Amino acid sequence: MASVLEARDVFRFHEVEGRPVPILRGVSFALEPGTFTTIMGPSGSGKSTLLHLLAGLDLPSAGEIWLAGACLSRLDEEERTRLRRRQVGFVFQFFNLLPDLTVRENVELPLRIAGEDPAAHRDRIDGLLGRLGIEELARRLPRRLSGGEMQRVSIARALAARPPLLLCDEPTGNLSSKAGEEIVALLREVGGAFAATVLLVTHNPRDAAAGQRVLFLKDGVLDPRHALTGEGLRAADVFSRLQELGI
Ligand SMILES: Nc1ncnc2c1ncn2[C@@H]1O[C@H](COP(=O)(O)OP(=O)(O)O)[C@@H](O)[C@H]1O
Ligand SMILES: [Mg+2]
Repeated sequence: MASVLEARDVFRFHEVEGRPVPILRGVSFALEPGTFTTIMGPSGSGKSTLLHLLAGLDLPSAGEIWLAGACLSRLDEEERTRLRRRQVGFVFQFFNLLPDLTVRENVELPLRIAGEDPAAHRDRIDGLLGRLGIEELARRLPRRLSGGEMQRVSIARALAARPPLLLCDEPTGNLSSKAGEEIVALLREVGGAFAATVLLVTHNPRDAAAGQRVLFLKDGVLDPRHALTGEGLRAADVFSRLQELGI
């Protein structure tokens, strides 16, 4: 089966006080279509750095990222942007909704950016709002929503242009425990319903346990041999693996 996304021995250095510091030191993994994978790593371990590389927002210092059959480093910026818009939906910790647009306008934004007329997709967008339980909020502005509601809106926005891949950067990091649990359950559900491949990065063992596969990022290395796999993983399974790995 062809992978949706593949990282091959990816390195990324960041400039700290004028010196290059390795953040990712040989990260390799692949995502198979329709799977729900999580990456567990402590704060500062390079999760956001990795997601930016996977989405082609930034390029690796060494190694390759393959998205939908293309090696991102071999594309120019414009080609990467075009590929990202078609292939990737992004869900952020801080929602990143536009404050002056209504919920519906925020959700429709990726279609407008892709040069499509949202009116032509009205039924589908209504279905998406319904599926995420936010149809009643469609005319509201983001500031009148709770954190959990804002995150539902941003998931709807991420799915609006029907990308095959959803990348989620600590999507519960700014939510209460209960709202966070609901958001992770929703991501699993919509991943299945819309046949999207989902990658969620988190420092929260409970969120990580929602994955069919949990990868662990430690000291810039993501060793697939340390992964947990299986349905119905529990936070306790993730905790024990963290202890075994000394994270
Ligand atoms: N643009 C940057 N320039 C320099 N250092 C950075 C940059 N982005 C992140 N870092 C550093 O890289 C490390 C990993 O950051 P990040 O990827 O945000 O981790 P995480 O998302 O797991 O918390 C941190 O030490 C952070 O300070
Ligand atoms: Mg981060």
